Amino acid sequence: MPDAASSPPLRSLNATEWDRTYASTNAAWDEEPPPVLGDLLAEHAPPPTHVLDVGCGLGTTARWLAGRSYTVTACDFSARAIKEARRRTPADSTVKYEILDATADVPLPPFPVLLDRGVLHTCPTHRERRRFAEAMARLCRPAGLWFHVGAAALSDEEALDQSNGPSWTTEETFLDAVSPWFTVLDHRIADFGRRAGVTDWSARYVVLRRRGD
Ligand SMILES: C[S@@+](CC[C@H](N)C(=O)[O-])C[C@H]1O[C@@H](n2cnc3c(N)ncnc32)[C@H](O)[C@@H]1O
Repeated sequence: MPDAASSPPLRSLNATEWDRTYASTNAAWDEEPPPVLGDLLAEHAPPPTHVLDVGCGLGTTARWLAGRSYTVTACDFSARAIKEARRRTPADSTVKYEILDATADVPLPPFPVLLDRGVLHTCPTHRERRRFAEAMARLCRPAGLWFHVGAAALSDEEALDQSNGPSWTTEETFLDAVSPWFTVLDHRIADFGRRAGVTDWSARYVVLRRRGD
């Protein structure tokens, strides 16, 4: 699990708190994802599929997706994060950024593919995970896909210790949150990020299919 210094306790679905976080931390989670995510995307949703990167933060994953020939819309409810994401994005990039709360009424048509890297795991409780999963269902076309990357508790002991970093879900608690709207196509455990001692803690990589309406 991450230590408190490298990863502040980010269990919030509050845009003002996230603006503050981006103003005061170096966003330790902000890095290109490890190869497992590229492998899963290539297998289940090859480019140029249109991906909505939900809770894109500073846009690093969105730019990584565009570099792999995906069509990318990236959204975050932190205006500060989106301002910085736009600043970091080259003028000729095709990534489109939107400031919006994914759990609100979103003025976008449903997408064939959604990605959340480290967003559902910021939900503090089961109730909020459910609410977030329901919002993902609204954003996703019927039979569309959701690629989830989030903190994984691999034992009862880890599940009980929620003192550090994001919310740690067991497979059971994760599935309980998403199963009203999604079925699982693929499920792997791998490091969340690439940096030893900072982001190399266990994460769940799950490919979910939206049930038909
Ligand atoms: C841990 S960061 C991950 C950022 C990015 N996905 C990454 O991998 O670097 C979680 C992000 O989710 C955003 N977020 C959380 N809840 C959100 C919501 N309801 N709508 C839009 N963005 C949200 C936060 O502002 C924050 O940028």
